Amino acid sequence: MNGDEVRAKHSEFLFPATINYYAEPIAVDHALGCTVYDTEGRPYLDFFGGILTVSMGHCEPRINAAIHAQVDKLQHISSLYPTEPTVRLAERLSATAPGGPMQSFFVGTGTEADEMAVMLAMCHTGNSELIALRNSYSGRSMLAQTLTAHSNWRVLPTQIPGIKHAHAPYCYRCDLGLKYPSCDMACARDIEKLIQYTTTGSIAGMLAEPVQGVGGFMVPPKEYFQVAAEIVRNYGGLFISDEVQTGFGRTGTHMWGIQHFGVEPDIMTMAKGIANGLPAANCMARPEIARSIPRLTISTFGANPIPMAAANAVMDVIEAEDIPARSARLGDVLHQGLLALQQRFPANIGDVRGLGLMQAIEIVVDETAGDRTPEVALTGRIFEQAKAVGLLLGKGGRFGNVFRIAPPMLIEEHELERGLALFEQALEAAGAR
Ligand SMILES: Cc1ncc(COP(=O)(O)O)c(C=O)c1O
Repeated sequence: MNGDEVRAKHSEFLFPATINYYAEPIAVDHALGCTVYDTEGRPYLDFFGGILTVSMGHCEPRINAAIHAQVDKLQHISSLYPTEPTVRLAERLSATAPGGPMQSFFVGTGTEADEMAVMLAMCHTGNSELIALRNSYSGRSMLAQTLTAHSNWRVLPTQIPGIKHAHAPYCYRCDLGLKYPSCDMACARDIEKLIQYTTTGSIAGMLAEPVQGVGGFMVPPKEYFQVAAEIVRNYGGLFISDEVQTGFGRTGTHMWGIQHFGVEPDIMTMAKGIANGLPAANCMARPEIARSIPRLTISTFGANPIPMAAANAVMDVIEAEDIPARSARLGDVLHQGLLALQQRFPANIGDVRGLGLMQAIEIVVDETAGDRTPEVALTGRIFEQAKAVGLLLGKGGRFGNVFRIAPPMLIEEHELERGLALFEQALEAAGAR
């Protein structure tokens, strides 16, 4: 099929709610490393890795070899049977857990991992209310949509009761109109009032992304999670770190995003980059917490041997290439490049932020004149121009005016430099200033 045929059949046979990027979506045919090709063979440099999921690179040979070997050995047996790829992965992940060993429950998506984390926190604490953050994203089930605090992603008005949303540590647009550090972490301290005023006073926990992903890669101040987690624990809750976007070295220096903030989570969830694009996710918890589920539970596709084998190969690559260090080093190159673009387009590039290979810029009306109104139309034009010059970016943020950049972490420095040059061309062609 050519691109037009793929697009036509997509419109005819898939739900219209299946959103695609771009006025004319790219019909992707194949990919290698950091380059994606459409059905007409046109190459695009991939600065978004299938939403941070192709963590190491498209069709990475070492990971592909592990997948091929597993396909010929065992493809499915269900979580009713222990398998070697699963127990190996669980043991390796446990060894990386901040603050001591953890046990795993494998599922298929980030949504399910967050569902499991919440169920576990409720079982362990005997409480049912939860704190989540405004501007967060947790997935598409009813519970995950309620945890998610973006009206755009809330399809139904129905919500799961007992979930309260605290102010996000979004310093560029502080809800409280304060500035760090003189704010003294007022947004984190307000969680105590949120619990006292809007819950029974005993909570199951708080679920938060160390760096909000869909929300636009906000990096909280370094003390934020220490203050927040202490309050949550004082009211009987567990701290759940949603590492779906921030895990596996993405934020640089550390394996997990939360490690930048000096907090040891009680429960962690992970998905996206875990298996370089194959569907897998995991909820990890301290053994004394993991044993709190009182009844039977199962995930048919959880711990499928193929993604488990891929995830073990991802762990091999992380170790062989020291991915956290690589992500820190290349993340710095990317961050500096984006700061240079901000100098070149100071009115419209309002904020440059991120950790490691998870960097974003926010497009506003005129930062130099102090007008931080999201410039959504310009964002759309830049996005289309980037496509035209062969660069795939991510878009996000509450207002859709944030460009998210998170390429496969084996990206080479020269590819980063090329992508930055293409981004500059796109900004210029779209009329950014
Ligand atoms: C932080 C976070 N948690 C959970 C999810 C849900 O993951 P999935 O789409 O695999 O269900 C996402 C997806 O973008 C996410 O970014």
